[in-house]
Amino acid sequence: ASEAEEKDLVIIGGGVAGYVAAIKAGQSGLKVACIEKRGALGGTCLNVGCIPSKSLLNNSHLYHQILHDTKNRGIEVGDVKLNLGAMMKAKETSVSGLTKGIEFLFKKNNVEYIKGAGAFQDEHTVAVNLVEGGETTVRGKNILIATGSEATPFPGLTIDEKKVITSTGAIALEEVPKKLTVIGGGIIGLEMASVWSRLGSEVTVVEYLGQIGGPGMDKDVAKQAQKLLQKQGLKFKLNTKVVSGDADGEGVKVTVEAAKGGKEETLDADVCLVAIGRRPYTNGLGLENIGLEVDERGRLIIDQEYRTKIPHIRAIGDVTFGPMLAHKAEEESVAVVEYITKGYGHVNYGAIPSVMYTHPEVAWVGQNEQELAAANVKYNVGQFPFSANSRAKTNLDTEGFVKMLSDAETDRILGIHIIGPNAGEMIAEGVLALEYGASSEDVARTSHAHPTLSEAFKEAAMATYDKAVHY
Ligand code: FAD
Ligand code: NAI
Repeated sequence: ASEAEEKDLVIIGGGVAGYVAAIKAGQSGLKVACIEKRGALGGTCLNVGCIPSKSLLNNSHLYHQILHDTKNRGIEVGDVKLNLGAMMKAKETSVSGLTKGIEFLFKKNNVEYIKGAGAFQDEHTVAVNLVEGGETTVRGKNILIATGSEATPFPGLTIDEKKVITSTGAIALEEVPKKLTVIGGGIIGLEMASVWSRLGSEVTVVEYLGQIGGPGMDKDVAKQAQKLLQKQGLKFKLNTKVVSGDADGEGVKVTVEAAKGGKEETLDADVCLVAIGRRPYTNGLGLENIGLEVDERGRLIIDQEYRTKIPHIRAIGDVTFGPMLAHKAEEESVAVVEYITKGYGHVNYGAIPSVMYTHPEVAWVGQNEQELAAANVKYNVGQFPFSANSRAKTNLDTEGFVKMLSDAETDRILGIHIIGPNAGEMIAEGVLALEYGASSEDVARTSHAHPTLSEAFKEAAMATYDKAVHY
């Protein structure tokens, strides 16, 4: 970057939030630069999050299925062995292909990619400490902060990413731990617990609340997920808090007690995963140089057009409000560029899906029963089990159900909660229904191909205002 040139938009952070905004800005004809310090584009999601975790989830599931679920399908397999190194290589190949793909898209859309760490010098100038050595500065008419988030540490347990790990260590272990303790039964905890349990670890998940799944998961779904994960060998300690941890000796000792207080118990393990949430990341960004402050949870404060109190400096993605999800960040990227170029943009925060990629998958959108009850909304419930769906039966994969919630008066769909095979793909139909303000009857009167899992979705809709046919 030359010091003289002023960009229309300078983006700090090349994660999903930053790189998508950069491409959109380039497509809209803005002069744009994107600063990323990691050495690769794609941020947490591509490098150490969504993508590598899904690679390991997919391949560990295949391994587990080959070990435990082939005979009754008429498939006899011989000597099945795990080659963890090769499984990690497959993961790395997926990651590097995707991150290089973004570099290509940057070139195609005239985005200048600056490899380095950016810090505000003043309200229009970002100083960049370059990865390859040296410094430069870049000036922007508009500046977008998209610096993402990091794992929240657990006090008293020092992360070394070998014995005491975050998700970053959990996607890169060099051997299968005999015993794994997971602190936090949210989505990261359960996805990573699934991977290592399938590959042979004895896994215990410690969760402070009385329910697994993290924020937003419907209670019935969470209960069913726990039951099914327990069947796969995971152990759970709910309503339990971690009192202290000790990683000095061999392995890691974690002392826990009932959340309300009680007798202490020590869990011994080779590795301990800390998965108690993530926090916005603004270290080294020089916010103090421009007088920008964060809230009590570290989030940059913005208005509805993503503006900080300095109007030409905006923030999107994990570093600010809302669910920490890649597709939420992506929606905001498009909207923020539209605000800059056109003055208006659009994100429907009421229709952002959540997916947990365990087996079976869990997916939901809109409100859950507990939230509706708390808001005094009168609603109808329609539920349909996959055990009554022909395709699930054919596939010998019948665990779970679809649950639809609609307004008792208008039948408008308010929430959809799925646990079952391919829930993550099926929820897209639910998101569309919610976006279009569909009623459950609208969905029920829509033809769904037979035999498909999505017929369970249609039948749950039928059950919401009338009766399902096959159950
Ligand atoms: P990030 O992806 O964190 O990107 C921010 C980037 O900014 C980073 O690359 C960082 O290096 C860079 N940066 C920070 N400070 C500076 C600076 N000063 N100068 C230059 N660069 C800087 N979400 C889903 O929707 N689906 C999933 O399946 C999913 N799986 C996940 C699995 C794991 C294990 C984890 C940890 C997260 C997962 N997430 C998932 C969440 C998802 O990764 C995040 O919501 C998403 O990455 C947020 O994008 P972002 O661009 O806001 O931040
Ligand atoms: P989370 O907020 O989803 O879950 C953390 C869990 O830890 C909660 O259930 C909480 O009650 C529990 N907890 C907190 N402190 C505790 C303590 N001291 N002892 C025991 N339990 C404790 O956070 P998580 O799982 O770390 O994920 C972070 C973010 O990453 C989430 O916002 C999630 O949306 C995103 N993510 C999304 C994925 C997806 O979409 N598939 C996959 C992985 C992460």
